[in-house]
Amino acid sequence: MRMYDIIEKKRDGKELTKYEIDYFIKEYCEDKIPDYQVSALLMAIYFNGLSKEELFNLTFAMRDSSKKIDLSDIKIPGKYIVDKHSTGGVGDKVTLIVLPIIAALGVGVCKMSGKGLGFTGGTADKLESIEGYDINIPIKNALKQVQEIGLCLISQSNEIAIADKKLYALRDTTATVESMDLIASSIMSKKLACGVDKILLDVTVGSGAFMKNLEDAKLLAKKMIEIGEAANVETKAVITSMSEPLGRNVGNALEIKEVISFLLADEESIMSDEFRDLREVVLEIAAQMISMSGVCTDIEQNKRDIIRVILSGEAYEKFLELVKAQKGKVEKVYLDWLHKDMYLPVTKDKVTFFKEIHAQSSGYIVSIDSKSIGEALVCLGGGRRTKEDSIDYSVGFEFSKKVGDKVEEGDVILTVLYNDKQNFEEAFEYIENAIYIDNIDDELGEKLKLKPHVLDILGVDDIHE
Ligand code: URA
Repeated sequence: MRMYDIIEKKRDGKELTKYEIDYFIKEYCEDKIPDYQVSALLMAIYFNGLSKEELFNLTFAMRDSSKKIDLSDIKIPGKYIVDKHSTGGVGDKVTLIVLPIIAALGVGVCKMSGKGLGFTGGTADKLESIEGYDINIPIKNALKQVQEIGLCLISQSNEIAIADKKLYALRDTTATVESMDLIASSIMSKKLACGVDKILLDVTVGSGAFMKNLEDAKLLAKKMIEIGEAANVETKAVITSMSEPLGRNVGNALEIKEVISFLLADEESIMSDEFRDLREVVLEIAAQMISMSGVCTDIEQNKRDIIRVILSGEAYEKFLELVKAQKGKVEKVYLDWLHKDMYLPVTKDKVTFFKEIHAQSSGYIVSIDSKSIGEALVCLGGGRRTKEDSIDYSVGFEFSKKVGDKVEEGDVILTVLYNDKQNFEEAFEYIENAIYIDNIDDELGEKLKLKPHVLDILGVDDIHE
């Protein structure tokens, strides 16, 4: 069999056999096929898509490209092991908040996360912005950690989901990320390789997501739910909005700081506007995961419990345990009268310059284009242009205003943190076109502020309608 023939067949819109797909995945993982040929095949898949059969075969070949995790040692009788995955976004730090929360509520998770892809950030990069955090621990140690503290957060490695690791990096630099079939197989192959009982997907939609409209987001969700069904793993999807960046911070270390402020919030701030969008998404995803795990199926009760473990500090303690267990450096600082001496993770890089971006006119912020903000982060060095690029963890954006906020001309909308003036100039071109202010009436402004971020929830019943 020749890779050339496989590329040609897919280029001409024909269906690949299981044998051909298995061959390409196996040979690529063994470095017997060069990146340029695989890039060509990925582009052919991007344009022609995959049939259902091809999608299942590709996902299962990728899942089987390395060993599967055996979770039997961490399984609790009568409970299910649930994993989560987001299709990606800008400012998406949901995993880092949800995992400690559910672990504090007795739901253990061993999660594998990826690096930033295209203009979207990656949980693995965010964690690596913490000095010393070891994302590449062996599976054996990861499972021991779940037994001891209830959670671990590791990266795709050569031990697990190797096909996804290689394809993911290649897609990132060959403009082949935004293919529904490649996204579905990437996500589901690594989730299934983790040996979990159930999967919760956060399928994002909007300019800062790979799916730009609700219809496509639902289709992607359905494809992944079908793969889950074929693999006998119950899969659910929460569709969430990514039309503006999620939360107030974009950038690796900055997002870790936002995670910490969320987990340390008091009663007033957790319910405040500051966390409006993040809170809605976190509550839904965490509540659904707790329900799927069998710990408690009452979603509203779960949401109350989530707030309880945030306010009690238990969720933050779990986050800290995670960082410490994976060798992340923490230091004791005096935070404020409420939290007194706190241990906080130490971030790696330091930032040199700050620049405030001001409103050019008065009115309401109608939109903040999250893709442009994601691209601007890449310009600052906070994301990768090629798979070999290293990252500047310290750069990013702090938003003082969000969509639906009223501004006067000259108000600060966001602050840019950067280390290189040339990079800032490049990023600025994206930023200045990303924010749209209009003189709309107060009622419409309020509506924009209150628009929901959780747009739909789909399960296996929805794909058989
Ligand atoms: N997340 C993944 O893991 N893979 C993709 O292809 C896109 C988002």
